[in-house]
Amino acid sequence: MSTAQADHRPRVVTTRSVMNMKKTGEKITALTGYDFLIARLLDQVGIDIILVGDSLGNVVQGHETTLPVTVDDMIYHAKAVKRAVKNALIVVDMPFMSYQTSVDDAVRNCGRVMKEVGVGAVKLEGGAHIAEIVRHLVRIGIPVMGHLGLTPQAINKFGTYEVRATEEGEAAELIADAKVLAEAGAFSIVLEKIPSELARRVTAAVPVPTIGIGAGAGCDGQVLVVYDMLGMTEEFKPRFVRRYGEMAEGMRAAFRRYIADVKGGEFPRREESY
Ligand code: KIV
Repeated sequence: MSTAQADHRPRVVTTRSVMNMKKTGEKITALTGYDFLIARLLDQVGIDIILVGDSLGNVVQGHETTLPVTVDDMIYHAKAVKRAVKNALIVVDMPFMSYQTSVDDAVRNCGRVMKEVGVGAVKLEGGAHIAEIVRHLVRIGIPVMGHLGLTPQAINKFGTYEVRATEEGEAAELIADAKVLAEAGAFSIVLEKIPSELARRVTAAVPVPTIGIGAGAGCDGQVLVVYDMLGMTEEFKPRFVRRYGEMAEGMRAAFRRYIADVKGGEFPRREESY
């Protein structure tokens, strides 16, 4: 097995070790995971972070946006992931309206996730306007990953999934937001779909790691939606998704063979029966 194919040595990943990786220059690897089997595979090969993303609203539940996802949905999926994971840091996305409404709501809902599932951190979308919430959560012992740029919970404000912060005004605001989040105690910040040069500037401007999705190579780490990189979401083809598999085609081929075998009396054989 070549080094490129070798699994990364499993080690227990914490928010502290993730922060340290910025200092040592080791790139942070993150993928989303929503269920036991995929989480177990990710953990076995040494992924650093499994993000139980509210993208499950799209790829698991089939919604148009992430807005309908509930705290109970997140807890259900996070519990399945948690049962599989020995080493990776599990981060749970807090869904729309579970933290934006007040510090009290954020404490109650993030507290539920931490207490009922036992994960390492939560992720919140937004900048300066949620800084007070982030500061309070961190103060009471709930680590927070920030998320800036194309934040999907704000899709109705943006009106489009196009690249964010291409103009200097929004770019300057994003850099300021990243600094405020880091100052409030966020241990890392996801940067979604922003120009690479801006992501580089943010990464240089904050002491905590940035984790990019569609934000270029200058981030401290990368994250993708696991079904996108596996080639299961065939119709979704943004340039930032590199496909590491063609699972949709592979699965269709397997399903077709099964149907043909059952219809043709080829399955099950004697040795597959009791
Ligand atoms: O919900 C999610 O999967 C995410 C990633 C795309 C960063 O927030």
